[in-house]
Amino acid sequence: MTDLVVQLFGEPVGRLSIAPGGDSRIPEDWAFEYLPNYVATNGVPLSVSLPLREAPHLGAVARNWFANLLPEGSVRDEIARRLRVTGTDSFALLAAIGGECAGAVSVVPDGSATDDVPVDPATSLEEALAGVGEGNWALLGGPMRLSLAGAQDKLAVVRDPSGLRLPQAGEPSTHIIKPDSPRLRGLCDLELLGLSLASDLGMPVVKAEMVTVAGTRAVLVERYDRVQHAGRIERLHQEDFCQALGFPPELQSQAQGGPTLGRCASLIRDQLGLGPAALQAFLDWVIFAALIGNADAHGKNLGLLRAPGGRLQMAPWYDLVPTIAWPARILDRTPALSIGGAPGIDRVDRVHWDQFAREARLRPMFVRQRAQTLAAAAIDALPRAIERIVMGGGDAVRLANAQRVLMANLVRTLAAVGMGSSQ
Ligand SMILES: Nc1ncnc2c1ncn2[C@@H]1O[C@H](COP(=O)(O)OP(=O)(O)OP(=O)(O)O)[C@@H](O)[C@H]1O
Ligand SMILES: [Mg+2]
Repeated sequence: MTDLVVQLFGEPVGRLSIAPGGDSRIPEDWAFEYLPNYVATNGVPLSVSLPLREAPHLGAVARNWFANLLPEGSVRDEIARRLRVTGTDSFALLAAIGGECAGAVSVVPDGSATDDVPVDPATSLEEALAGVGEGNWALLGGPMRLSLAGAQDKLAVVRDPSGLRLPQAGEPSTHIIKPDSPRLRGLCDLELLGLSLASDLGMPVVKAEMVTVAGTRAVLVERYDRVQHAGRIERLHQEDFCQALGFPPELQSQAQGGPTLGRCASLIRDQLGLGPAALQAFLDWVIFAALIGNADAHGKNLGLLRAPGGRLQMAPWYDLVPTIAWPARILDRTPALSIGGAPGIDRVDRVHWDQFAREARLRPMFVRQRAQTLAAAAIDALPRAIERIVMGGGDAVRLANAQRVLMANLVRTLAAVGMGSSQ
């Protein structure tokens, strides 16, 4: 297959193809072309990196945007194995599972979205998950042609008054379940801690809670790319910063050659003109990553959302994990996006904040003061956030350890940006 139909909100908007005689594993052989009648309607572009125009977008820029829709790592390998698709072939994987991607995008073979495996409405989530091994929940999405990015296992579900269930074919999911990781035990406790603490600090973050599904503890996050309209759930279009900046998923971190924080700031301020509130949210996201020690704050963990009506805005925060709660030998502490050249996410010092401010073209004093304010607020909020999560079924021992590590990092940060930092 060398041709896929790309839909936005269920309507065809373009065609993704591989050059005749080309190889889908070679980015240069990819092409994306908007349909002329879609260009004529002046509709929403798929991406900042794929502006609406009649001329095709050729090569890596097309390949990168679409490859970013796919799962990564072992989740991807397992889906590819199960569906007998070459894991390295993003085009084939899109053809197999691209029917329901993040936001409002579908990538389907020749317009047909009808080969979904129907979900029996009487099947509970527990029943559906019975026999699906740990780390393989995303496989339930595979046959339903559902693709969500990221390296962690996850499953899109609908929450209605009777509880959680799998979406019917074509039905928008409302929540994402991220089960605890077999490789990183306690990931669900720590992700919920990151998300809850951000919420306690008044940050724009997805709503999250701990649930137990099929005997497995998991974080349940509300989808931010959904909106209730006239009693129905509708999709909103979104893309991540790797997509908006034209980077492939393999380059989500700066060390891999991916985006820099300076480039992200310039996208928000100069290229998109999103205004001061968006820039503030970005600054806070960077500071928050350093405060909780989230070395995994990379270009795919920052998103853009099209509000109803089409206005572009920063997506709420998601995937906030204090990775420093694990020993450095298990999780590397090098920040995915360099903060002023700091050697570790738990070693961001005043000099690094000043360097970051220069790169993002922000006033160093303003950045330091904001870091100080948020560090002080986090010191205050952390114990209560932990207590709440433990009360809700969190792992008390793991969270107590995380509290010690995070508190030390918060106190260190406060000292680094606090007293004597007036110039
Ligand atoms: N609450 C949400 N609402 C809508 N889309 C979401 C939400 N959470 C995540 N997503 C989408 O799913 C993608 C993957 O989610 P997430 O970053 O949480 O997964 P992950 O596997 O933990 O990622 P990583 O590989 O960074 O560890 C995001 O990039 C985003 O496009
Ligand atoms: Mg992520």
